[in-house]
Amino acid sequence: MAILAVDGRRRLSGETAVQGSKNATLPILAGTLLCADECIVHNCPDLSDVEASLSILRYLGCSASRDDGTLAVDTRGMVRSDIPEELMHRMRSSIIFLGALVARTGRARMSYPGGCELGPRPIDLHLSSLRRLGVEITDEHGELVCTAPEGLHGAGIALPFPSVGATENIMIAACTADGTTIISNAAREPEISDLADFLNACGAHIDGAGESTVMIDGVSRLHGAVHAIIPDRIVAATLLCAAAVTRSDITLRRVIPSHLSSIIPIFEQSGCEAEFCGSDLRFCAPYKLRSSKLIRTMPYPGFPTDAQAPMMSVAALCDGITVFVENMFESRYRHVGELCRLGANIRVEGKVAVVDGVRRLLSANVAAHDLRGAAALVVAALAAHGRSEISGIGYLERGYERFELVLSALGADIKKI
Ligand code: UD1
Repeated sequence: MAILAVDGRRRLSGETAVQGSKNATLPILAGTLLCADECIVHNCPDLSDVEASLSILRYLGCSASRDDGTLAVDTRGMVRSDIPEELMHRMRSSIIFLGALVARTGRARMSYPGGCELGPRPIDLHLSSLRRLGVEITDEHGELVCTAPEGLHGAGIALPFPSVGATENIMIAACTADGTTIISNAAREPEISDLADFLNACGAHIDGAGESTVMIDGVSRLHGAVHAIIPDRIVAATLLCAAAVTRSDITLRRVIPSHLSSIIPIFEQSGCEAEFCGSDLRFCAPYKLRSSKLIRTMPYPGFPTDAQAPMMSVAALCDGITVFVENMFESRYRHVGELCRLGANIRVEGKVAVVDGVRRLLSANVAAHDLRGAAALVVAALAAHGRSEISGIGYLERGYERFELVLSALGADIKKI
């Protein structure tokens, strides 16, 4: 089993280009199923979750090849509409294939998506929304069996919560449905807009993506297209956390400033300076970080839950108390115990974590339990005195492309062993 060995306290400097977004790539790969054609997708990160999506596409009979960051996916050869349990369990977001499969073939058969490290992640909103579009769904011995005998039809769907995955599933399924679909209380994350841009490039008629109301006018078919994935705002945020805790001065290339609008002010409250120049972000951290007091995770454009864990490593070293309120997932504090092993002072009560900043973190051997928690441990280890070893880095590799190489190019002492 590989581990990361980190010798902390190295200043970072220089510049790095931010990888493409994992959370934009996954639904777009599912969306290629609608095209029955070849799609070229640039800026796709090389991650285990992306590989899991490609395995599903290949199992279905599609061809998929990678040349550097560019994926060529040809779904003309698709011959199946089922996804085996082993592939479904590799990642939770495999549920995003449900809408695409039913839209393309009129049926789908799959197990429930993979067990999740963030507490219960129900899919009720996905299922009830697809039912509104005309999908009949039954549970046969733990398998979801879906058919659309009359084809899909447009509908008004009011989501009780702006679920990212449910919004994406509806958008994909509604593209070729008969009539118009209107999603109210849709998720507004940038990855939703990227999916809409891809689908519209393929001939779909989606309006309002990125806003609370999204309208999809069904078209008879989609065609292939060329698309470039947006930069990953969570990876950008994690790199800023790494720079903040090491009191560094770095430049991130290929960022979209508006995607970081809830993240930059938190760093500024801590005394960091951030300056955008086009898609470059120059970031400079002070010697002494101040607490930003309160961080509440919210749907976009609020502070992203995915940045909560790495930001907690920053708060661990700030002067003063920072209170985190995690509003999105139930079990998203699994990194706290490991951060405390590195010397952080954090107490958790339900969805609230109180971080009392300490002057220094000390090295320890720690284990990651989920993707963003793994990123938090890397950030903390970069600041800790001495050599830390981080296990469970398979989680990190689900979302961060060759992260140890990115960080060592910036001057960190980090090795995969
Ligand atoms: C996506 C992101 C994930 C991010 C999350 C919130 C991808 C691949 N993953 O996950 O990184 O942390 O958005 O920004 O894009 N819920 C239900 N019923 C449902 C669906 C969701 O109750 O049918 C609940 C979930 O349990 C959770 C909340 O809604 O508490 C948010 O989930 P959702 O927005 O759907 O997140 P994902 O799409 O799973």
